[in-house]
Amino acid sequence: MDDTEKAAIASLRVKLTTNGYNDEMKSRSNFNAAALPGLAYRYREETPRNSLIKLFLLRSEVDRNAIANVFDDEELRGLLETGVLNETPEGAITAAYKIYPYEHLMLFCDYATSGMNDAVYTPGGDSAELARTGVRIPFESSLDLCTGSGIQALMGASHTEQATAVDLNPRAVHTARLNCLLNGIDNVNILAGDLYTPVASKTYDFITANPPFVTSQTTELFFRDGGLRGDDTLFAIMDGLPQHLNECGFAQIVTHLYEFDDISHIDQVHDFAQANGFEAILFLSEAFDKYQLASAQFSTYLTKYKKYQTEVTDYLVHLDKIRYKTGYLGVITFRNTGKFRFKKMFSLNKPVVFKVDNRAKLNAFYELSDSDSN
Ligand SMILES: C[S@@+](CC[C@H](N)C(=O)[O-])C[C@H]1O[C@@H](n2cnc3c(N)ncnc32)[C@H](O)[C@@H]1O
Repeated sequence: MDDTEKAAIASLRVKLTTNGYNDEMKSRSNFNAAALPGLAYRYREETPRNSLIKLFLLRSEVDRNAIANVFDDEELRGLLETGVLNETPEGAITAAYKIYPYEHLMLFCDYATSGMNDAVYTPGGDSAELARTGVRIPFESSLDLCTGSGIQALMGASHTEQATAVDLNPRAVHTARLNCLLNGIDNVNILAGDLYTPVASKTYDFITANPPFVTSQTTELFFRDGGLRGDDTLFAIMDGLPQHLNECGFAQIVTHLYEFDDISHIDQVHDFAQANGFEAILFLSEAFDKYQLASAQFSTYLTKYKKYQTEVTDYLVHLDKIRYKTGYLGVITFRNTGKFRFKKMFSLNKPVVFKVDNRAKLNAFYELSDSDSN
């Protein structure tokens, strides 16, 4: 990326911030398709802020006159060169990405997933749970596997000297690099490849991962499909931890954890920690049954009811075949202490029981003193 393009991305950050895009969008970034006409009406007036919202949230065109009120000619040229903006044959401007705000970050990711197996994942509830429960103490080195938009690597970058992030999907690698520029973060190195392969035998103080974890009969989406029982990538990540996690280092993984008639993922995590002398701390959501899992999985197809019905039914047949009993969303925290310990708590999405975004309580749970944290 040349200097004009880098300057254009930096200027985009300024435009988003000065026009209040971040604050306005925080409550609206996870709307469903039904909300679109209402939002288009709400933001119909021609203002710089509304032009940014039309481009990066509503996926609509903005004409050249309205764009001239947001970007000067050089900024526009740079953004067109990076491919962040495109020009239609009629001369209107469209955006190639959505911009999703999370905490202090703004993140390029993809608008829609249908028909795109390399879509860059828009941070979801899973990403937020890992970010909220993240260990936030100073580290020298970190590694974020399955980085997607780069959200976990970028959240960790503020308390890590040198961060590395890896993704198999070249489109995610490019997007995560754009996100470093958009957020003015220069201590994250984004690499393309399969899990630990690009980092060879390097070791880290802090490893994070949000792998594809959905049990799936197909491998249609890079970010979603985790193999027949949803655990292919999870176990490959766990297998690499003894080699890549420094002594006293932390590894945090968000994933679905399933119970089958014959196997329990939670027991497997327990046995792995015991075999390797790790401490394992689990935050779990309430359990969901196969009907909840199947309908949540295909909820985006609700507007095409026949397809939704077929997909949910086929998926239930698959869940019966693999003898699915129940599942949880979980954040697993491993610590390489050399001393096995296992603790488990049902608290995700249940701030009443334990407010996981309360730093002092979280630190107490991880047994970190306040002076450890930033
Ligand atoms: C659920 S998304 C998570 C994105 C982001 N870390 C987050 O928390 O929102 C999973 C990501 O894993 C990547 N991925 C899948 N298999 C991988 C592998 N074997 N090695 C590296 N990345 C992989 C996908 O391309 C996708 O970007």
